[in-house]
Amino acid sequence: MAGSQVVQSVDRMLGSRSLATLLAATAGERPGYRALAQGVRTLLLDGRITLHTRLPAERDLAGALGVSRATVTAAYDLLREGGFAQSRRGSGTWTLLPEGQRPTSVAAFPAGDDVIDLALAAPYAPQAELAAALRAAGGMLTELAASPGYHPYGIPELRAAVAERFTRRGLPTLPDQILITSGAQHAVSLTLGLLGKSGDRVLVENPSYPNGLDAIRGAGLRTAPVPVTADGWDSDLIESTLRQTAPRLAYMIPDFHNPTGAVMPAEQRRRLLDAVRRTGTWLIIDETLSDIALDAAPPAPFASLAQHGEAEQVVTVGSLSKTHWGGLRIGWVRAGSRLITELTQRRVTLDMAGSVLDQLVALHLMKDMDTVLAERLPRLRAQRDALAAALARHLPEWRWELPAGGLSLWVDLGRPMATALARAALDHGVRIEGGARFGADPGTYEHRLRIPFTLPAEVCEEAARRLATALSTDLPASALAPRQPHWVA
Ligand SMILES: Cc1ncc(COP(=O)(O)O)c(C=O)c1O
Repeated sequence: MAGSQVVQSVDRMLGSRSLATLLAATAGERPGYRALAQGVRTLLLDGRITLHTRLPAERDLAGALGVSRATVTAAYDLLREGGFAQSRRGSGTWTLLPEGQRPTSVAAFPAGDDVIDLALAAPYAPQAELAAALRAAGGMLTELAASPGYHPYGIPELRAAVAERFTRRGLPTLPDQILITSGAQHAVSLTLGLLGKSGDRVLVENPSYPNGLDAIRGAGLRTAPVPVTADGWDSDLIESTLRQTAPRLAYMIPDFHNPTGAVMPAEQRRRLLDAVRRTGTWLIIDETLSDIALDAAPPAPFASLAQHGEAEQVVTVGSLSKTHWGGLRIGWVRAGSRLITELTQRRVTLDMAGSVLDQLVALHLMKDMDTVLAERLPRLRAQRDALAAALARHLPEWRWELPAGGLSLWVDLGRPMATALARAALDHGVRIEGGARFGADPGTYEHRLRIPFTLPAEVCEEAARRLATALSTDLPASALAPRQPHWVA
């Protein structure tokens, strides 16, 4: 029962003018109490208002909206009844989600053969280049085998190659500013483990990369979410959240953000750098998707915009998983050399060092990065367009913004049915995660699916057809309820 939930901490406040601005788009001007409650609920489920946020006092919100206080009182009553808010005398009213709103991941359900796997947004390996790199690596391996083979920082040649690529992209970097890791996820987890301690806060985007969010929670850290929509980031809100919650860390994906595909404009990057300098927040910038630039030039490294010493607070992580192949398990951290040493000391306690053979393969692949991308990017662009066309054909009510890069569409289903649809889709041979998996707060993004375009065009077409069949044949009627759910009626 929502009413029995104990709110651990109510640490964010939403001003009446901010809420009125947010509501203008969803509830319209001078809304009645039902529309007002529905608007708040939509904003909450869409991650644009976060859980445990204190709502404005009734009188203030009434003033900002130009409605009577009774309207706001009735709307807050409705929200409480539905489990979307809780109040305590003297403490105000804050946002909540009902228990039943918590989603299930499809990973918990078995899938048959012949399943189209849309749960992962990861491309296959470039086969010819991989085979050539493996042959070249084999030759070098015999030379290196006359040593113990432990390279906790990574083999020097690969550290130099990664540093050189940062330098070429506009961020002068020395090899001793690079640590080679087993993928970006390893890099993020190592950084969280070194810089955060249990109970610390981490500013995160909402939605965000689920394994990043899990790593944050797994480290005992608390998230402070800020929304990212098709329109991108809200710098004012980021700044006020930084001020209000004073997070120790921030985890951000400014380039072709996963899952929305948004790219943070340069001016917002500068504001973010300024803001974290003021609050002393470490900034983990995840550049895993930076090179998957389909309709735009790949952005320069985020840290290259630092002007006043904030570069020291920026920890950049990257990976070959999206440009080449996740099976390589090669990623990196770029940071100040002292931090790199501390991260490496920590990594030794976890896995000693990475595989030399994998690093040699990566070294050879990186030499030919532009050739791989010249083949890969046009194919991804064509697959993105094929997926969009297939969805438009089979599921004409669904909506999305075509992203300028990245590997997936962030699709608005129009109704909160993603978990039910993901479960039904399994029976029709499609494995896909509902949008809630990407939410910083459980129970949000129930009307979203992230659909990758990493599979060939004909498979995208078949996946869209199967999703449409699952939707029309298997979905419980309750999941197909119209936009106005019964609880406000
Ligand atoms: C934003 C982001 N970060 C990190 C990762 C994990 O990358 P890796 O395979 O290098 O660990 C992914 C993979 O999907 C990702 O999209």
